[in-house]
Amino acid sequence: MNLDNINEIAEYIVSDGKGILAADESNPTCGKRFDSIGVESSEENRRDYRELLFRSDGMVGNIGGVILFDETIRQNAADGTSMVDLISSQGALPGIKVDKGLQQMDDSEESLTQGLDVLDERLKEYFALGARFTKWRAVINIGMGLPSSEAISANMEALADYAKIVQNNNMVPMVEPEVLMEGDHSIDACYEATSKCLDSLFSNLSAKGVDIKGTILKPNMVTSGSAASDRASVEEVAQRTLECLKANVPGDLPGITFLSGGQSDIDATAHLDAMNKIGGFDWKLSFSYGRALQQPALKAWLGKAENASNAQQALSHRALMNRLASEGKWDISLEN
Ligand code: 13P
Repeated sequence: MNLDNINEIAEYIVSDGKGILAADESNPTCGKRFDSIGVESSEENRRDYRELLFRSDGMVGNIGGVILFDETIRQNAADGTSMVDLISSQGALPGIKVDKGLQQMDDSEESLTQGLDVLDERLKEYFALGARFTKWRAVINIGMGLPSSEAISANMEALADYAKIVQNNNMVPMVEPEVLMEGDHSIDACYEATSKCLDSLFSNLSAKGVDIKGTILKPNMVTSGSAASDRASVEEVAQRTLECLKANVPGDLPGITFLSGGQSDIDATAHLDAMNKIGGFDWKLSFSYGRALQQPALKAWLGKAENASNAQQALSHRALMNRLASEGKWDISLEN
């Protein structure tokens, strides 16, 4: 792949319905996922699992980028091929999570994402290792009096600072302001928090001179809280999410790739499909799912080499279903 500038890189990742496989779980998060199937989170098991994902047939044509954790971008597959070369051979661009996680703000329940110091140096190394795009995740909570305007401003400013440094290193920044689904809040509360974050994010990106055409947004969808009793329908999630994006996101952004954030795999696909069926926007609307792409594969694998092919089929299926959803061509009957 010969992609000369950040605009071409961003457009390639979301071209023809393609989306992103988020496989950048930190070692503790990967530990939680492996605990759920009773597998030890050793370096070798993490390598074997991710290698089988990246070798899946369904990567080709459905996945335009893979987000990696620091350990994986330096790893080789069992036969000595680098993970980066493996991903590239499937037609996907390697990306890297570059934030250093969350730090609590004062005594509050809110956090500020860390990692701006020595970012420039780290990016130079990641570029040399083959990364062509990056991810930074800010986390915003909904609760009594939350989110505070301080948490929103500080996190959105950090996202813009990060994006500028990444573009200076010729890579595409994914900016991820995740309003968490955890809680019993209404879809209106999610809309309000998401809208405030996106408004602040795009003001900050513009103020810092970030090139929007070389940027990808990774937002949450506008949904009811995961513990809310009165849950919004697929149609309502699609409508409210589009309303929120149209009010806040410039039309020349090449791609919006949603996180799944704890939605079931089918819900994440159905919501994306519903938005693309409604249409009426210029960005590509696609996916950057972690759990919603990997969960069925993880359950099929169970840490056993003899289950690898079933796990690959499961990942390939979800990748195809989400590519179809990115084109508004998915239907529940395809899931059987
Ligand atoms: P989920 O799709 O599981 O939310 O993960 C995406 C991601 O990269 C979160 O930062």
